[in-house]
Amino acid sequence: MVTTTAPVQIDPFVQKFLSRPRGMLIGGECVDAQSGKTFETYNPATGEVLAQVAEGDTADIDLAVAAARKSFETGPWPEMSPAQRGHLLWKLSDLIAAHLEELAELETLDNGKPLFFSRIVDVPTAVEVFRYMAGWATKIEGTTVPLSAPMGKFLAYTLREPVGVVGQIIPWNFPLIMASWKLAPALAAGCTCVLKPAEQTPLTALRLGELIQEAGFPDGVVNIVPGFGETAGAALAAHPGVDKIAFTGSTEVGRLIAKAATGNLKKVSLELGGKSPNVIFADADLKVAIPGSASAIFFNQGQICTAGSRLFVHKSVFDQVVEGVAGETKKFTVGPGINPSTNLGPLVSKEQLSRVCGYLDSGTKEGAKTVVGGKRIGDTGYFIEPTVLIDVKPHMRVVREEIFGPVVTAIPFHEPEEVATFANDTIYGLASAVWTRDISKAHRMAAKIRAGTVWINCYNVFDPALPFGGYKQSGWGREMGRAALDLYTESKSVCAQI
Ligand code: NAI
Ligand code: MG
Repeated sequence: MVTTTAPVQIDPFVQKFLSRPRGMLIGGECVDAQSGKTFETYNPATGEVLAQVAEGDTADIDLAVAAARKSFETGPWPEMSPAQRGHLLWKLSDLIAAHLEELAELETLDNGKPLFFSRIVDVPTAVEVFRYMAGWATKIEGTTVPLSAPMGKFLAYTLREPVGVVGQIIPWNFPLIMASWKLAPALAAGCTCVLKPAEQTPLTALRLGELIQEAGFPDGVVNIVPGFGETAGAALAAHPGVDKIAFTGSTEVGRLIAKAATGNLKKVSLELGGKSPNVIFADADLKVAIPGSASAIFFNQGQICTAGSRLFVHKSVFDQVVEGVAGETKKFTVGPGINPSTNLGPLVSKEQLSRVCGYLDSGTKEGAKTVVGGKRIGDTGYFIEPTVLIDVKPHMRVVREEIFGPVVTAIPFHEPEEVATFANDTIYGLASAVWTRDISKAHRMAAKIRAGTVWINCYNVFDPALPFGGYKQSGWGREMGRAALDLYTESKSVCAQI
């Protein structure tokens, strides 16, 4: 592992963007919080304050929901044709692409992730999600339904209509991608939105809001209210004027959202935690499976809901794989994400660092053995060593709970038949992977694993066309693909006597 600290030139636009307090976007205007309050967002590579941001609360959420309601019911948005909505979405994707460098730097400074990844993953993914959903705007169709009712002759058909005003609460691990996963399908369907970014990482969502206005979306179609979860987030989840709430984050808060939604029985979709099994069989191509499994857990410093955090390896290749994955950690260049040669950045926050360190302590106390890593790096910024744990038991917290850091538990298995049971021994069911050269075995495993995604001989492959979401306590509903449109539309049956 190499560490880098070389100074880096920051884009002058980004410097200017950070230099003054950022307002929220309500009804097409950039406004301060009603309370006048602001909060600080930090650079996790240094722990220093990065920018001041308007702190939204109940009063601001009320205004944003009212603006979204008004633009849903009157004004240009409901009058627009599907093609016009599609054009706007595509125009926005072009603007995001044109501002790639600046968005990538903002994302890296706010979240900590390596600029290398912000440039090739985060911003381009946002571009492609808006483009994919732009195409759907003109393809949201109902069906005609032949009726057998004896009372007469009927023409019956279904319409798919926008669900209405949508509240969207997103996390800090992929701030711009999460904003685009939420906004793009909702807008394609004709909804209006109130988006609450995570308090740790509000900056790219606020910049996206400016680009949304620049693209020409009517005022109030997208409102962006930064603020804390317990205040702004809770107000949005409980709001009687919101027709649907979409959330990505912890399973714990997912439960609170589901409860808060019962007041007006708003529709709910949840994308929550994971403890994904990553299974390597003896016949896997280890040249691919080893670096693939290292990236499965260490990508984004392990702060990804799909992280391959439980590595199951056939006993005949266990030592080789563990040594290989531990060896991969030596290749990382760790440092501030803004340095272009960094490929492992800090964790997002002091809280996340102490959460992950707490899991490392608990692992050691419960008897796990650390093969590599296991400690904080330095005392500036929130850096942590990529870590491989062995000698773990199924009851240990490091095996059962989502760590959301670069920590993998490696577990040997003996019989290929037993591994599906181990893989499914979790409250979660978000993602999984199997590595094998035997295609029958791969697809048998794909059928047995209770998870929303199974990767075969690959990991963390996402696509705007591929539905994504969780079984069990990993959530409700599927985002991406055609499935995402179901979250943002209602079906209406129309029946005419003819
Ligand atoms: P969190 O679930 O508290 O935060 C996610 C979002 O929910 C943020 O926008 C936050 O402001 C909002 N929120 C928090 N409390 C809320 C409430 N009562 N009502 C409405 N909105 C609320 O996640 P946190 O605390 O940042 O991270 C804790 C753990 O959650 C992580 O260690 C990780 O295990 C998991 N997590 C999972 C994510 C995923 O992608 N599935 C993303 C982020 C965290
Ligand atoms: Mg929280």
